[in-house]
Amino acid sequence: MLNIALPKGRLGEKVYGIFERAGFGCPSIRENSRKLIFENEETGVRYFWVKPSDVPIYVERGSADIGAAGKDILLEYSPDVYELKDMHIGKCRVCVAAKKNFRDDTERPLRVATKFPNIAKEHYRGKSREIDIIKLNGSIELAPILGLSDVIVDIVETGTTLFENDLEVIEEIVPVSARIIANKSSYKFRHDEIEALLRKTELGDR
Ligand code: PRP
Repeated sequence: MLNIALPKGRLGEKVYGIFERAGFGCPSIRENSRKLIFENEETGVRYFWVKPSDVPIYVERGSADIGAAGKDILLEYSPDVYELKDMHIGKCRVCVAAKKNFRDDTERPLRVATKFPNIAKEHYRGKSREIDIIKLNGSIELAPILGLSDVIVDIVETGTTLFENDLEVIEEIVPVSARIIANKSSYKFRHDEIEALLRKTELGDR
């Protein structure tokens, strides 16, 4: 079985759709259940749903041979995996955002709320700006509204969440999209199998 870690949620469903169209479907995955593992013995694939930020952990440690992860997650955690392909889906941007009319007071450290402390630190290191990181796990947009932070570093896809909360992008850090990643030894020992699957999904080298 080729083990494939899919990020739970909209992106993972799109990724699964690509594999399914390539002939690697698992019909039971479409049933509304709380099962986390699905396999298709005929095609030799086993999928499991994991929290998006955990995909690189499963792949790095070899519990999954390949997986799909956002470039934001890869930049944040720097897992020791191969990044095989850009899937050109799940496109968004990691941005700095703040309340409208925000003015940076450079006399004091900038308070930055984020799920991505490493990306944020790297960004502000490049600008030699001293910061105070406030690590949050979701609903980051609340932080500047409640005065918990001055700015946020977060994913912006459509911009709706920022707009509806009276926030705006003040800097774009990096564009991101979903990538196929592979465990290093799986890629070595199951190279042909992995490449054949990617070719069928039109994600592989031709
Ligand atoms: C992400 C991100 C923003 C939102 C951006 O949150 O953190 O809040 O999506 O999308 P938009 O620009 O299309 O509005 P997610 O849905 O992952 O939930 P979270 O708040 O739990 O991080």
